[in-house]
Amino acid sequence: MPHDENLTADRPTFVSHLECAMTGERYEADRLHGLSRVGRPLLVRYDLAGVRGALARETLAARPADLWKYRELLPVRHTRNIVSLGESATPIVPLDKEPGNVWVKDEGRLPTGSFKARGLVMAIAMAKELGVTTIAMPTNGNAGAAAAAYAARAGIEAVIFCPDDTPEINVREIAAQGARVYRVNGLIDDCGKIVGAGKEARGWFDLSTLKEPYRIEGKKTMGLELAEQFGWELPDAIFYPTGGGTGLIGMWKAFDEMEALGWIGSRRPRMYAVQAEGCAPIVRAFETGERHATRWEGAHTVAAGIRVPQAVGDFLILDAVRASGGKALAVSDAALIAAADDSARRDGLLLCPEGGATLAAYRDALATGLVDAEEKVVLFNCATGLKYPLADASRWLDRHAPVDWAEL
Ligand SMILES: Cc1ncc(COP(=O)(O)O)c(C=O)c1O
Repeated sequence: MPHDENLTADRPTFVSHLECAMTGERYEADRLHGLSRVGRPLLVRYDLAGVRGALARETLAARPADLWKYRELLPVRHTRNIVSLGESATPIVPLDKEPGNVWVKDEGRLPTGSFKARGLVMAIAMAKELGVTTIAMPTNGNAGAAAAAYAARAGIEAVIFCPDDTPEINVREIAAQGARVYRVNGLIDDCGKIVGAGKEARGWFDLSTLKEPYRIEGKKTMGLELAEQFGWELPDAIFYPTGGGTGLIGMWKAFDEMEALGWIGSRRPRMYAVQAEGCAPIVRAFETGERHATRWEGAHTVAAGIRVPQAVGDFLILDAVRASGGKALAVSDAALIAAADDSARRDGLLLCPEGGATLAAYRDALATGLVDAEEKVVLFNCATGLKYPLADASRWLDRHAPVDWAEL
């Protein structure tokens, strides 16, 4: 019987406290928390000297290859609270037909078909640990699907709100996995307001991006995994499709923690936050030098996952991008669709539209000299392309009629 000891072995845990990302104010660990007193995200802090004494990076290679191998750097205290659907390490696939040195970290291989599994498996495990019975969250689709799946597994009730034009498959998979799902005539932040009100009216626990502290910790494992896969030498540049930005913020946090542990040096990848031209609040704030982004009115893009008009962690995204020497970049829907088509047709890798956005941005960056062809570049494809409507390019053949072989 195959057995994953990451899920069953008791390992020491090292959370020391939580901290407001804006003011640094401390909060007690092992308590249920939402946002900080000033309405900003809370970050989980660890006794990194303790982790250093307990875990050498070489030990990781011998553990089963899933995100629970990083347990000493994760918040779950008790092994019995781990929920899992098999969060295997995702491959880094080279795009051989693209110029330069570019890989896709293909997060579409995770349970529920997207990287949202990383954040939600952690948030739900912690909700279980802290005694939550009902969670609620707004979603553009993939996060709600992952929340529903893990909540079902953990025996937690889930109530999910999504914009009414959320990809159909997402809405249906959320319901299929046992959650109550509502389509709302608005955008994700409108859905977030309903969750905020329901929190008061119904006592739901709000699992919105960055409004609870643990989704970041799950997303952080993308950074840990990337470092391990690249032999503890991070790539030169990372292109990340940015909505709420949890993954970018999480990876940046992982890099700092790994440096404190002596696992990597001080060199960082340049972080490129990629948005769609029809919804680019982070790009606008980056270009005008602001630390906070104002709401993007009339947001529209086919890349539903990055249609986020306003992000509560805006300053964390912008701080990380600036500190890394990267940039925030916008691409058109036409460019992201063309890039995803090319990847599928030429490299056999079916990207989601948000993944297509990173490829389009990479192409622009190469053309304008932001990135050079010798550099190692990683693009994040955050969901399987199979979750999105695909154009029908099939042809028709009548098996009873004579076949014109020259035509086939
Ligand atoms: C496929 C996909 N890519 C990217 C994102 C954006 O992720 P983040 O909120 O971490 O910026 C999402 C979020 O819904 C998504 O579903």
